[in-house]
Amino acid sequence: MTGVTVRVPAKLNLQLAVGPPRADGYHDLVTVFHAVSLFDEITARPAERDGVSVSGEGADRVPEDGDNLALRAVAALRAATAADGGGVHVTIAKRIPVAAGLAGGSADAAAALVACNELWGTGLGQPQLLEIAAQVGSDVAFAVLGGTAVGRGRGERLTPALAPATSYHWVLAFADGQLSTPAVYAALDRMRAAASDGSAAKHGVAAKQGSATKHGSAGPVLDATLMSALRSGDARQLGRALSNDLQPAALSLFPALRKTLAAGLELGALGALVSGSGPTCLFLAASGDRALDLAASLSGAGVCRSVARATGPVPGAAVVPAVR
Ligand code: C5P
Repeated sequence: MTGVTVRVPAKLNLQLAVGPPRADGYHDLVTVFHAVSLFDEITARPAERDGVSVSGEGADRVPEDGDNLALRAVAALRAATAADGGGVHVTIAKRIPVAAGLAGGSADAAAALVACNELWGTGLGQPQLLEIAAQVGSDVAFAVLGGTAVGRGRGERLTPALAPATSYHWVLAFADGQLSTPAVYAALDRMRAAASDGSAAKHGVAAKQGSATKHGSAGPVLDATLMSALRSGDARQLGRALSNDLQPAALSLFPALRKTLAAGLELGALGALVSGSGPTCLFLAASGDRALDLAASLSGAGVCRSVARATGPVPGAAVVPAVR
């Protein structure tokens, strides 16, 4: 076999509820992942030793050494299966922008897992691939699964959302700049600590840690309104229910995004949200035609670097059949 090519989607978070920081530095989440039709394509070929080359959108900002998440996924699969398929060279063609809140690096890792599983004939099923994916990064398992799914824990414990076959029309506004995911989580922790110090001082009680007051002891909670919108396929209700606890933190680090969000809403989007840790902003449109109008107007408004349209949900990482 000369090589295996896998296509893998970007993800949006339709809800991202973040609990207080855990002892391991991560945050417990409840999130609703949604895979959209913006794809990276990766090809895995046998090679003397592991290596990676990256082309396309933001390629110069992706590490081409052992830090590359796709290579870490290759190593994790090898370790888990004791596969002896030799080295692998991974070629990544990027269309998902880097460090944009769309889990592009996690997508490439998921694609590498699926590609090497095929290349080496390791024959792991989806449940085993999901387990290995979860060790590689918080969003990697979802990129294997795709569709729409509720994520818990760090985001790696997934439950597919049962929903009708509605297709939603999204417009993505890519920003001129990047945000670091750990920096955005840290900013949220600081904002919550400051808010709880302020309210403790006002009420004369000891300061509470992090967001314990907001989410209660049960931690972050799945939004019933959002899930009901998904079950009924009601785009208007979905637009109103979109939420992201990281948004205020992302806006504090990247204030220009306020203008982008406001512009999309003024132009008729059913909902607007920072995607994950940002800085990409996502907008829900009522139809494909509305998405086309919205994308054109947003791009003319000068509030972002570029725009793209995408539909969701779409399936997770999948092998592209070889052309014969
Ligand atoms: O797991 P992954 O490497 O994708 O996470 C990147 C960073 O995002 C983590 O190092 C952590 O700072 C932050 N994070 C978090 N809680 C999560 C997921 C990510 O704090 N549930």
